[in-house]
Amino acid sequence: MIRLFHVSKFFDQCAALRDVTIRIDKGECVLLTGPSGAGKTTLLKVIFGSEVPDEGQILVQNRNIARLRQGDVPYLRRTIGFVLQNFQLLPQKTVHENVVLPLIIQGVKSREAQKRVKETLGAVGMEHKRAIRAGGLSVGEQQRVCIARAIVNRPMIVLADEPTGNLDGELTMEIVELLKSIHAQGTTMLVATHNQVVVGCMKGRVLHLQAGRLVSDTRGEGE
Ligand SMILES: Nc1ncnc2c1ncn2[C@@H]1O[C@H](COP(=O)(O)OP(=O)(O)O)[C@@H](O)[C@H]1O
Ligand SMILES: [Mg+2]
Repeated sequence: MIRLFHVSKFFDQCAALRDVTIRIDKGECVLLTGPSGAGKTTLLKVIFGSEVPDEGQILVQNRNIARLRQGDVPYLRRTIGFVLQNFQLLPQKTVHENVVLPLIIQGVKSREAQKRVKETLGAVGMEHKRAIRAGGLSVGEQQRVCIARAIVNRPMIVLADEPTGNLDGELTMEIVELLKSIHAQGTTMLVATHNQVVVGCMKGRVLHLQAGRLVSDTRGEGE
């Protein structure tokens, strides 16, 4: 499903990723851990195609995306949902408008789009807030909307960057349960987190990064 071969990414002199080789199979739940600056966000971004690696190869469902071509971007956006760090919702737009946006960009017909937004907001427990401006929601609600936006096009892969970063204990557990329910439907998940409670509750494979290197993998070799 996702394979990285000897991937490196440099920013100026600094290596954000160094020689990372990983194989993630369909339906796996993978937790990406490591201290701040270890390269977690960069790893998610190279898989999503929003950063291009300097070295190495990346296969997403057998398509090599390490050298992004024009046709790869729409393909990746259909295949991967990304729950970004720090929300990045449009605060003046309603919950519905935020979640429908990826479908509009992909040219999904209006009636189908309305149906999918309704279903997805139901799945994350936010349907009753559909007409509220995103900027007026609590942090926990905003995170639910971000997750809805990431899964509304039914991606096969969901990437989440510190999805509980701004949340207290109870809200963290609610988001963990939501992510688990998305995984239980067969979605391949890759979740970056420094929260050991999240790691323990998600019960997934754990990849640990340190200074851009993959230093441990609870599944064994990264081949
Ligand atoms: N756009 C960028 N420009 C320059 N340096 C960056 C950029 N993005 C990340 N880095 C650097 O790459 C390293 C890894 O960052 P990041 O992937 O954000 O780590 P993490 O998500 O684990 O905290 C850090 O040293 C960070 O400063
Ligand atoms: Mg990060």
